Amino acid sequence: MTLKLASRAGWPDELRFLIEQYPREVWHGHENLGEMARFWLDRHNGFRQLGGALQKATADFREGALEPDPFRRFFAPRLQLLLQSLEGHHQIEDHHYFPVFRAAEARLLRGFDVLEQDHDAIHETLMRVVDSANDLLREIDGNKDALRRATDRYADDNNRLVQSLHRHLDDEEDLIVPVILDQGERKLFWGDGRRVS
Ligand SMILES: [Fe+2]
Ligand SMILES: [Fe+2]
Repeated sequence: MTLKLASRAGWPDELRFLIEQYPREVWHGHENLGEMARFWLDRHNGFRQLGGALQKATADFREGALEPDPFRRFFAPRLQLLLQSLEGHHQIEDHHYFPVFRAAEARLLRGFDVLEQDHDAIHETLMRVVDSANDLLREIDGNKDALRRATDRYADDNNRLVQSLHRHLDDEEDLIVPVILDQGERKLFWGDGRRVS
């Protein structure tokens, strides 16, 4: 079964044994959901909010509810922020978090490989969004038809990005949070002397 980010609809049965044991409803009241996990979930919610804000502003601009200048001032710095913070977040996960979880739960190894591939797929989509955003910015004071085409392309690319980001964040949480609840953050990160910088 292909588990590509663009086409999957969650984890297959063989990677769901821990999420079945620790469903989302129990996460927030669970004593093993520590500070690090809460901070990490907050970061994810921040990405979801930023993606949603970019989508809304683009839809408003497309429908004429937002003028070019305020749109430019709103979306350009936020897209930049999303790009930079996502790249940093993925680096930390690939190099610091995933190795800890791989060592802790060998039955989910395939899932961590998939999540790492997702980061590459998201990076490619982000590069496309940056490209179409730059086209849009070039056309913003010019010809109306060219601006319409550039806006449509940017909106499509941005929607694709937000959609794949949501899929990735949901699946990443469904894989990782149950491991944290099962073993405890302290044991995972400090139990065997290993430290996460
Ligand atoms: Fe990730
Ligand atoms: Fe993440």
